[in-house]
Amino acid sequence: MSVPEKVLTNHDLAQMVETSDEWIRERTGIRERHIADEKDTAASLGAQAAIDALRVAKLHPEDVDLIITATSSPEHLFPATACVIQDSIGAVRAGAFDLSAACTGFIFAIEMAAQAIRGGSIKNAVVIGAETLSRIVDWTDRNTCILFGDGAGAFVLQASSEPGGVQSSIMRSDGSGGDALYVPAGGSAMPASLQTVQEGMHFVKMNGREVYRFATRVMAAGAREAVEKAGMDIEDIDLIIPHQANKRIIEAAARSLKMPMEKIVVNVDKYGNTSTASIPIATVEAIEQDRLQPGDNVVLVGFGGGLTWGALTAVWSGPLTEEPRRLHLARYRRIAWVRTMLRRIWRRIDAFLFGRGKSP
Ligand code: ACO
Repeated sequence: MSVPEKVLTNHDLAQMVETSDEWIRERTGIRERHIADEKDTAASLGAQAAIDALRVAKLHPEDVDLIITATSSPEHLFPATACVIQDSIGAVRAGAFDLSAACTGFIFAIEMAAQAIRGGSIKNAVVIGAETLSRIVDWTDRNTCILFGDGAGAFVLQASSEPGGVQSSIMRSDGSGGDALYVPAGGSAMPASLQTVQEGMHFVKMNGREVYRFATRVMAAGAREAVEKAGMDIEDIDLIIPHQANKRIIEAAARSLKMPMEKIVVNVDKYGNTSTASIPIATVEAIEQDRLQPGDNVVLVGFGGGLTWGALTAVWSGPLTEEPRRLHLARYRRIAWVRTMLRRIWRRIDAFLFGRGKSP
């Protein structure tokens, strides 16, 4: 995982909009969140998380076949943030694309990568959730700006003959609720104009109460359905790692599932809602705190704009190899940067020497 250094507390926010630490903590459970500085982008945070995940998996970037980046705050409409990350980490053999399903994106991306591995077309995938939501949040709107934070997290998924990994998943959408959480302008429906900028149409708009009601309905139902699909009972689950949007939503899901809170990961207090990055960040912290061990049955469950929701059950497998492997990832990344520069220079030379006057 990778989060920006800068921390914005509720007290800091109370200096910016009419709110208070008490209100935010009571309604959401959030105390603070990390905010990108000028040099951080979704891709820079995502690339750092991807490199760290490869280091844990003892896998070289050249061995990666697929990179999926789930993001709600991509670097550009195109190219995909995943392509920027692919280039930055030197994953020269990987196909890379973004997946847009708001906060549920990480669950959907895991399912896509797992199916590609099961189908036999790839062996190694990196799935990333990466966000700089602070860039698309209206910092004068207290309804939304208190909720979100920046950060990234990544998983490595690998083919293995050992049992384990993703056991079942559900992916659901209800586009009729799209206007409950959306960014109106900047796409083809409402291209950027002076008016869209003046009216703040490039910022997140949200009907908080509607999203809250939807979330409390689907979190528990989604988790339950995925567990049943895997042929398990909820009692078989060792840990649930939910999307971190609001502590009250997570507690409502826990009550409905009759799961004790000790079996549910909550870290929304430290990071706010980091959208697609929240589940991998929560997973990393659960591992660091020894709450998730190889062999454990785990449920990942999320919801978000779209509307979308999804859940999966997995047998946590940990790194496939404990064999020490010298990867020199930092040095390799510098080599990847030089390769990128040389390729760019070569493209210009190629266009200058051979490109003029020739169009197919
Ligand atoms: N500080 C103080 N008062 C506030 C603030 C604030 N930051 N924000 C709203 N209020 C006020 C409202 O104006 C309202 O005042 P009124 O009664 O005079 O009109 C009052 O507090 C209550 O507002 P509600 O919206 O009813 O508050 P609620 O208890 O529903 O909490 C919240 C709001 C926290 C946004 C909640 O609805 C929520 O968490 N919703 C889900 C949001 C979410 O998870 N979004 C992300 C989805 S994931 C994705 O795809 C990115």
